[in-house]
Amino acid sequence: MGLLLNHRTYSTNAESVDSPIVWREQVSEHQDWFPVPESATKDTHCSAADYNRLYTASISDPDSFWAEQAKRIDWFTAPTKVGNWSYDPVSIKWYEDGVLNLCHNAVDRHVAAGKGDAIAFIFEPDEPSKPSRKVSYAALQAEVIRMANTLKKMGVAKGDRVTIYMPMVVEGAVAMLACARIGAIHSVVFGGFSPEALAGRIEDCASRFVICADSGLRGGKHVPLKANVDAALERVSGVEGVLVIEHTGDPCNMTPHRDHWYHEYGADVPSECPCEPMNAEDPLFILYTSGSTGKPKGVLHTIGGYSVWTATTFHYVFDYKPGEVFFCSADIGWVTGHSYVVYGPLQNGATSLIFEGIPSYPDNGRFWDIVDRHQVNIFYTAPTALRALMRDGDAPVKARSRKSLRLLGTVGEPINPEAWRWYHATVGEGKLPIVDTWWQTETGGTMITTLPGAHGMKPGSAGRPFFGIRPQLVDAEGQVIADEGDTRGDVSGNLCITHSWPGQARTVYGDHERFEQTYFSTYKGKYFTGDGCRRDGDGYWWITGRVDDVINVSGHRMGTAEVESALVLHDKVAEAAVVGFPHEIKGQGIYCYVTLNAGEEPGAELESELRMQVRQEIGPIASPDHIHFTPALPKTRSGKIMRRILRKIAENDFGALGDTSTLADPSVVDSLIEGRKNR
Ligand code: WTA
Repeated sequence: MGLLLNHRTYSTNAESVDSPIVWREQVSEHQDWFPVPESATKDTHCSAADYNRLYTASISDPDSFWAEQAKRIDWFTAPTKVGNWSYDPVSIKWYEDGVLNLCHNAVDRHVAAGKGDAIAFIFEPDEPSKPSRKVSYAALQAEVIRMANTLKKMGVAKGDRVTIYMPMVVEGAVAMLACARIGAIHSVVFGGFSPEALAGRIEDCASRFVICADSGLRGGKHVPLKANVDAALERVSGVEGVLVIEHTGDPCNMTPHRDHWYHEYGADVPSECPCEPMNAEDPLFILYTSGSTGKPKGVLHTIGGYSVWTATTFHYVFDYKPGEVFFCSADIGWVTGHSYVVYGPLQNGATSLIFEGIPSYPDNGRFWDIVDRHQVNIFYTAPTALRALMRDGDAPVKARSRKSLRLLGTVGEPINPEAWRWYHATVGEGKLPIVDTWWQTETGGTMITTLPGAHGMKPGSAGRPFFGIRPQLVDAEGQVIADEGDTRGDVSGNLCITHSWPGQARTVYGDHERFEQTYFSTYKGKYFTGDGCRRDGDGYWWITGRVDDVINVSGHRMGTAEVESALVLHDKVAEAAVVGFPHEIKGQGIYCYVTLNAGEEPGAELESELRMQVRQEIGPIASPDHIHFTPALPKTRSGKIMRRILRKIAENDFGALGDTSTLADPSVVDSLIEGRKNR
């Protein structure tokens, strides 16, 4: 098998086994198998036989399958068309003549069906001594209507972009639903992003409106959201209205005519606001995500397909039963929060728990406290959180009952078998199914996962494709290595998807060419995920991590190019090259090689200035772990930085640097190795 696209892929050829994260190398040795737990087979929405039947149906006749799934939700006008897509040229449509409103499906229809008293959201505040809050579907409807009418009063109309910069509070979800209700396009920006990053995202989609809170709370610390908005709006023009939600009571500067307190401005709006009839292919939201080059892309999702996809995946993957409490610990600033805190659960009439804080505050037992307090049945989190908690041992877990738990899930990055086992044995008492769900911002919802009542589990493997998903592994030249449906085992390659699914992103906002270029040009006619993957003889898929210049830091996706651009903004820096390296808790850490302008001296002070610089440009999540000053970077004679070598050195793997003879100055490598050893 030939070399794969990049360095971070598995291969059956021992020489090219080259993994980004040390523990991944153990994966193939751990072939343990956990059968479907007895408890997971009871009343399951999908048994093994169901899966085989439904998966086959979804592949052999996708239109019939997805026409049937579309009946999960209400349509003002039912679609007569189902899939209509092409990957060359790229044009993706699903349910294109259908008319619907996602807010109606998430909220109003449950109230209309007499389920207004059911609980939509449970809010657990950062400070455990403060009261939690339960919001019924009827109360949520009233809240969303008030927010929707307030947005209208501010001048927001159908098709307008609205930037949402909120903490993890119910009002964040209300803001999203209010946009969906009136046909505005929301762009949620994670509250941990800096004013610069926020400004860039406001500018890119020409958003004229911002919704924020005075400040947010995370582990007792105040995050100055409104002040960050003010700083962002000094850098970008065109914002006409800022709606400020009072949350902590921290004082805010209010700019007259532009800034409005929600509790004042929205106090006297009408109490009725019908759901705007929307075409299935009208935009629903933009969510910025990092790629391997340039600034973050505004990934765009449309209403119809995304609604059906999140409703269907939530139903099957979490095997949700009425009355159960679902807790997804992701922030609404990420796609996981969009699809599985808000839209997936609410469309299913579920109770979704919104947690404002962090897993370590006030102590490492916080998640399990929440599970006990609110009798959580289904818990969905990221491997990085589990690794951090695992370090503290079993005691904080064992001190809580966790009896209510029925199903566990993970998302965001590959889970190392050790963390999987801890999750299974300690959190789940060895009895609960775990779903390891692989998906992306661009896929809208879960793509590869075991289904709890259908599939046994292998620690570290995501499992099987969801209905309608046709994964394929290709080599660097695009030769097919494995297709869903063939039986060859233990093969590795770059992961593509060959057929569209309803939840697929439709474009990059304002730049369709970039969409085509990024996802469909590497392998013509296929969606390329950017991930490397292995498939074993049982048909289980094992994601091995990114094969492009994207790193995954604590489950946060980051382009190394973004960090490099932030570093070179410093006037003492000549050049920077950033790579990921294995990190025990974060999965990957950020390793920066920096060369300085002539006459500048490295030192601890400059190091902390550079750290600050990156935090300022992107946000605290992008804080470099290592800044390695070097007189030169390894370059080819044509001046190209040899990143492969930089990655190896950052990984402390000096034995497998490969061919360095093409370097303009091979001695650079020795001095870099020396520098790495001394860190
Ligand atoms: C990684 C998050 C292994 C992967 C929903 C993907 C995973 C990127 C898993 C998308 C998983 C996500 N196993 N890797 N279960 N889930 N990833 O857009 O590299 O923030 O391409 O979406 O996270 O990150 P994003």
